[in-house]
Amino acid sequence: MSTWANLGLQDSASPLMEQLIFFHDHALLILVMITVLVGYLMFMLFFNNYINRFLLHGQLIEMIWTILPAIILLFIALPSLRLLYLLDEINEPSVTLKSIGHQWYWSYEYSDFNNVEFDSYMVPTNELENDGFRLLDVDNRIVLPMNSQIRILVTAADVIHSWTIPALGVKVDGTPGRLNQTNFFMNRPGLFYGQCSEICGANHSFMPIVIESVPVNNFIKWISKNMNS
Ligand code: CUA
Repeated sequence: MSTWANLGLQDSASPLMEQLIFFHDHALLILVMITVLVGYLMFMLFFNNYINRFLLHGQLIEMIWTILPAIILLFIALPSLRLLYLLDEINEPSVTLKSIGHQWYWSYEYSDFNNVEFDSYMVPTNELENDGFRLLDVDNRIVLPMNSQIRILVTAADVIHSWTIPALGVKVDGTPGRLNQTNFFMNRPGLFYGQCSEICGANHSFMPIVIESVPVNNFIKWISKNMNS
């Protein structure tokens, strides 16, 4: 999760988020190089005293500063497209979780397991445990197995919501009347926090998401306990 003064991206918990971070750093590096170059050129204009009354055109320099940015853009566009298609790839998921956005909470369905379903509300500040995170903890967490391909189906019951987990590189809109799909692979155990990220009404800020990433046998224990109750 994000902590104080963390201005960058969160540590990744999935291979796709790792790739997203690499792409972010790559794009930022290009951005910094362009900013430094243009900033230097603009600064140096202050000290330029040369005037050429007969200068009307410069074909060569126009060619250079048209084609060069186009090539630089390709270096961003091609890795971006690679990532876009990589994020869309579904590779034989072993668990499917359906998450439904409501005003203002999420509800979940494990359709593979006798349709285990539950609501997940934010824990209000006055009911928070001492080790709880304000505006981020929920009463019923999603439990999912680590080191497994997981498919998420997202939809909504009233208005548009967005199911977003930064550490996993997942952000999918839940739209009424539609079913959106995404997938991820958690490569470490832990708690991964997220929030709704479509402005969905008065309590938009208060419908967080918590995933408990656990080893597969712990997940089987948890799901079989919930199937029987
Ligand atoms: Cu749901 Cu914002």
